[in-house]
Amino acid sequence: MELRLNSPVGNLPAVYYWPLCKKKGYDEAKEIIETIVWGCSDIPDLSVPLKKNILHDVDVTSYESMKALTKRYNKAINNVLLLEKGTQKFCDRLNRVASKELLRHIIQQTYSAAVTDAEELNKYQAFSPDVYGETSFDLITQMLDVIKPGKDDVFVDLGSGVGQVVLQLAGASPCKRCVGIERADVPAKYAKAMESKFKFWMQWYGKRYGYFELIKGDFFHDAFRDKFTEATVIFVNNFAFGPAVDHKLKERFAELKQGTKIVSSKSFCPLNFRISDRNLSDIGTIMIVSEIAPVKSSVSWTGKPVSYYLHVIDRTKLEKYFQAKKNGSLHSLFAEDAETSCDSFETDNSRENGDKYLNLNAPLKKRGRMLKPPNSSTNNGVEINGEGPAKSIIRPGKLVLAHSELETLETTKKDKKRKRPVNGRPRNPELDPEWFSSCTLRTYVMSKLGNGLNPEHTQYLDYKQIAREESLKRLMDTFKFQYIQTISEMSDPLYKIKLKKCIEEEFQRHKALQVQISELNDEIETIVIRMQNYIKRL
Ligand SMILES: C[S@@+](CC[C@H](N)C(=O)[O-])C[C@H]1O[C@@H](n2cnc3c(N)ncnc32)[C@H](O)[C@@H]1O
Repeated sequence: MELRLNSPVGNLPAVYYWPLCKKKGYDEAKEIIETIVWGCSDIPDLSVPLKKNILHDVDVTSYESMKALTKRYNKAINNVLLLEKGTQKFCDRLNRVASKELLRHIIQQTYSAAVTDAEELNKYQAFSPDVYGETSFDLITQMLDVIKPGKDDVFVDLGSGVGQVVLQLAGASPCKRCVGIERADVPAKYAKAMESKFKFWMQWYGKRYGYFELIKGDFFHDAFRDKFTEATVIFVNNFAFGPAVDHKLKERFAELKQGTKIVSSKSFCPLNFRISDRNLSDIGTIMIVSEIAPVKSSVSWTGKPVSYYLHVIDRTKLEKYFQAKKNGSLHSLFAEDAETSCDSFETDNSRENGDKYLNLNAPLKKRGRMLKPPNSSTNNGVEINGEGPAKSIIRPGKLVLAHSELETLETTKKDKKRKRPVNGRPRNPELDPEWFSSCTLRTYVMSKLGNGLNPEHTQYLDYKQIAREESLKRLMDTFKFQYIQTISEMSDPLYKIKLKKCIEEEFQRHKALQVQISELNDEIETIVIRMQNYIKRL
């Protein structure tokens, strides 16, 4: 016994078999009704008959009633096709992009038909890169809103599972090509079924979709190297991939084209990453990373919002760094950074940052605020930053004082001569011109930092303070949100039922374990007695 639904654009009909399937999270009768509604949605002439006649008085448990429903629907569709086929009106309806909600329905019905046993997908090795999980339709919609792919884009999902993300991209975006690569047998098997069901339903509704392929294989295999280099948008749900896979991915990302976007469930570099001489080999030097705010529907039952990260390959970042290093404006870049980074919580301490951003080979004047010698413009009565009457001579890497400054220093030195030990260096080495002229700027600044932070540095700390306060505020908001979420879940009557069920299950498990314990004890006792008898006999 079967139920047929004619395609609203005259393509092959859909066939359902009686009895209809009804399982957890899926009701085939409901799907038939929704499909009829969507099938009529592009035909305004059918909106009244749909409500008044086609869907009237349907009993989803009766084959006769469902058969009558499909008959009414098919008749209405056939009449429309008879009238419209070959007309401009009909052509206009063909090959249009599916609306967001229709695509959601198509992907849902594709999944229901293709993934015959979803439990199978959960049979993976725990804590391995094969851990399976699916990204929601809403999250991908949000990603599309953010990255807005165009017709020249090539989308690749690394570890595509059953392929629903690739199908959504093929149905919702103008991408030139959408590719998914999946290694594990079970999801790859379902991906094949997803592919054919998706094509069938898109054609049934007469909707357009872009070229896509769902490939079985390991994305690190050399055969897929060009998939990385061709990609302009990469999606990777890497939450469970682990550091080794993430590291290998970063190596591949180093080969990506300028402007390539990577969206992932775990970021590949810290949000507050800043280039320094110590991290020049890090992937963060060629990408700009930002967080995509979690969508409401991505909140898990624990109330934890699912975050995604957008990385954009930008090699000019590194170029700018070297350029700034060359012309000595690196430090002012850093100062700007500190001001704009207030929305990210930084864990590195300011002293370390100061060290990181010291540019030892640039003229002092251009070096920005932090390198200004401490205690304002004077230092022990000597003008050393060029603001006072005695101008300093600055050479790269060394701080050498002008003759007048040396004189002043000399005077100060004489004044303080009594403090000088008979042998060795002066107590305050800065008062010794010999020492001063031979010390590098780095040594000088570090010695100052060691003696206390300068006012500019303190100002930088203020920014960090603000950043921390902001982060704390956001953290508190998250806690508040999670708390409200939990309370609302707990006030749901179903929560009590579920909880009771869990307690009952635990209780039963406990009972079963008790039985097992007593059985094992009996066995042990028997073995002990047998052993004793055996020993006695010996
Ligand atoms: C969490 S699932 C994500 C599925 C899908 N992308 C989504 O977001 O709905 C991650 C998938 O990556 C696959 N995977 C892990 N390492 C892989 C590799 N080296 N090559 C291909 N697939 C891989 C796993 O088998 C798993 O199905």
